[in-house]
Amino acid sequence: MNLNLRAILYLAAAVAFIIGLKRLSGPRTARSGNMIGALGMLLAIVVTLFDELRVGIDLYWQWVVLGIVVGGGIGALLALRVKMTEMPQLVAAFNGFGGLASALVAGAVFLKPALGGAPLDMPLDTMITVILSVIVGAVTFTGSFIAYAKLQGLISGAPITYKGQQIVNSLILAGIVGFSVWTAVTQDGLPFWVAGAISLVLGVLFVIPIGGADMPVVIALLNSFSGIAAAMTGFVINNPALIIGGALVGASGLILTNLMCVAMNRPLTNVLFGAFGSADSSGGGGGAAATGDKRARSTTPDDVAIALAYAEQVMVVPGYGLAVAQAQHAMRELDKALQERGVKVAYGIHPVAGRMPGHMNVLLAEADVPYEALLDIDAANALLQRTDVVLVVGANDVVNPSARTDTGSPIYGMPILNVDSARSVVVIKRSLSPGFAGIDNPLFYLDNTQMLFSDAKKAITELERAIHDV
Ligand code: TAP
Repeated sequence: MNLNLRAILYLAAAVAFIIGLKRLSGPRTARSGNMIGALGMLLAIVVTLFDELRVGIDLYWQWVVLGIVVGGGIGALLALRVKMTEMPQLVAAFNGFGGLASALVAGAVFLKPALGGAPLDMPLDTMITVILSVIVGAVTFTGSFIAYAKLQGLISGAPITYKGQQIVNSLILAGIVGFSVWTAVTQDGLPFWVAGAISLVLGVLFVIPIGGADMPVVIALLNSFSGIAAAMTGFVINNPALIIGGALVGASGLILTNLMCVAMNRPLTNVLFGAFGSADSSGGGGGAAATGDKRARSTTPDDVAIALAYAEQVMVVPGYGLAVAQAQHAMRELDKALQERGVKVAYGIHPVAGRMPGHMNVLLAEADVPYEALLDIDAANALLQRTDVVLVVGANDVVNPSARTDTGSPIYGMPILNVDSARSVVVIKRSLSPGFAGIDNPLFYLDNTQMLFSDAKKAITELERAIHDV
């Protein structure tokens, strides 16, 4: 393949990545964005394969085809079968494999001397890139699979901490730096393999102290790492598409990590080193309708249906419990029943509601809730002051007023949906148990709040039935 044509086609692939990413930023354009990005990737792969022919590399086509069929088949099967709530762990596994692939491709340069070939004689900058891709790729690989295991329940999601943990991790990091410098100076294989092996250990130790529910943030960070490793491998094998694609993944992963931390009002250091979720999280009541002298008032689907049916403006605030109960389709039916009666229905979407970025948007889109009905936190808070009934469905932390008022609260400062400013609030959840942050929610005990203790899907289905009888 002609070099100019190669450059132009790689440029077209890079443009497709950028347009794809841009379109992924809104629910309306996300599907086509995903498709455009995938087409860009296909183009980059095809150009790379033909380019190998240009430089005279004997391509083992049978292996290439086998890889595409087996890899593509597994990817398609996973994408079709994975549950929406299991998406973060799927992304973690993909990141892990991405990191491993980068480490293997870059590390392969050390195979020749290890198999008896001539010793390496690489420029220092290339050597540094090889070492960095292997280290970052290896940390990403094992770190991502620990994240996967935590989210999949294969190991405990609780933070695993021990005395001197930070010191052990720092020593391991120092070991990696030491063996890397040794490798860079001597171009010797032994310190290189040791640095790679310790990096695998660091990936495990880096993720085990982080609580399972913080995993989406860690996964976004590891996603960024996998991009950085890929970009560096792109320098090693001189492939511009890999450099650009890797840099885009690296940057977008970092932006997403930052967005999640800002939305939770927790610095990244607190997510990584704060062992959030290790404290006893049973303090919220666990099923009772009263804690201490605080009383929460419970209500029934029939009473809530009357309030909803005669409301002018209703706002639904979905949270993690809606996802667990898979109540999105029932919610859409209730929404339709209300709209048929002339009730206006909007959805207040908190950026970190649920357990992964865009969790609520994805669930509600699956149930065909129109995008225009989904309000971001600022628009929702403005409308809440004019809202008659707020239906909080399986949400807890994202509507907790302590974030505004209690300086000692772990979520103090986190922007929340001010549902307490609406005329009345109905909270659907099974008990008074706390949510992810493990803290009590004063909202449940306010005068304008009523609790509908139930599984979200069951409650919403009953509400929809009751609305027809009002
Ligand atoms: P949470 O605060 O986690 O509360 C969810 C509530 O859902 C629980 O209190 C639980 O109460 C209820 N629930 C569980 N199963 C239910 C079911 N079947 N039916 C009805 N209710 C059910 O959720 P949230 O308000 O969405 O907040 C998200 C939290 O996750 C935030 O603290 C956020 O910082 C954190 N987080 C989010 C992300 C992203 S990216 N979204 C990433 C990491 C962490 P019961 O047990 O009483 O039913």
